[in-house]
Amino acid sequence: MRRSIINGTGSYLPEKVLTNDDLARIVDTSDEWIRTRTGIRQRHVAAEGELTSDLATNAARAALDAAGLVPTDIDTVLVATTTPDNTFPATACAVQDKLGVPAGAMAFDLQAVCSGFIYGLSVADALIRSGQARNVLLIGAETLTRLLDWSDRTTCVLFGDGAGAVVLSAAEGQGSVADRGVLHVVARAEGRHRELLFTDGGPSATGTVGKLRMQGREVFRHAVNRITEAMEEVMAAAGVRAQDIDLFVPHQANVRILDATARKLGIAPEKVMLTIAEHGNTSAASIPLALDATVRAGRAAPGDLLLLEAMGGGFTWGAALVRL
Ligand code: UT7
Repeated sequence: MRRSIINGTGSYLPEKVLTNDDLARIVDTSDEWIRTRTGIRQRHVAAEGELTSDLATNAARAALDAAGLVPTDIDTVLVATTTPDNTFPATACAVQDKLGVPAGAMAFDLQAVCSGFIYGLSVADALIRSGQARNVLLIGAETLTRLLDWSDRTTCVLFGDGAGAVVLSAAEGQGSVADRGVLHVVARAEGRHRELLFTDGGPSATGTVGKLRMQGREVFRHAVNRITEAMEEVMAAAGVRAQDIDLFVPHQANVRILDATARKLGIAPEKVMLTIAEHGNTSAASIPLALDATVRAGRAAPGDLLLLEAMGGGFTWGAALVRL
């Protein structure tokens, strides 16, 4: 059976750091409130003129190096983002050009907000298993700070910029849970809740980009339930129990959401990979950022079983089981 294996990971965070104390000088907040309510200590902010495609290209280069591949090996560039360089063309086309991925490759963006990487994993895996692709660059990249209302303390303290990438390559497996690669993905949506987390603008609605708006408490409540459901679904489909999971690499939205979901599922706290303190919520970039940090810190070894999950605007949510 054909599988999509993670051949290499990479990530990139912009140089500029904004601490909680920096934010306390802009809005009525405090380091103490942000740390205890979210787990965030700082976030990175893209420099003026630094685009989502620049962040994505840097992360992709690192992932290619880790995989021992070159841009000419890539046949598909998939960028999960909510903050594309332009309304069109796709940021993936800019990444293709900046990286030197040959003409004729498939390149497109995918918009599922914070669930973008899970959705991207589902699509990339389907392309590989159907034989349409062999080496996919799957990138989550965001300049989310460009959508923030810096006078709204309920949102501007939460988000940051960054990018993470994986190279997914075709490989043969036995069709069992012992295989390396993407074992199972669930990707779900419920559009009737889209007013709980959205931008108040868009190309068709207003002709402007808009600012991010969120009813945080409501999103929190849905997030814990939906994430838990998706994780249970993906584990049941693969015949895996919580104790079989080596590492839990979640979307980094709020440390309290991650603690609550891990506790509900019986995943030990030391298996939960937490990077939110360093970069806040980077939307579609946060899972591959956490994954790359995990791999580079030597916390994950080949053969480890990883559980990934995310929930975001739409609502969209999902989970994936991947063996490194
Ligand atoms: O990645 C996409 C998915 N997004 C998420 O998963 C985010 C989910 N939501 C959350 O993470 C949390 O709901 C927040 C971190 C956004 C907020 O935490 P909360 O514990 O739900 O706080 P709250 O909204 O219930 O607000 C509690 C209090 C309020 O004051 P009052 O009404 O009790 O007087 C807020 O006005 O905290 C106040 N508050 C703040 N205080 C200081 C809200 N934001 C801030 C702030 N600094 N930045």
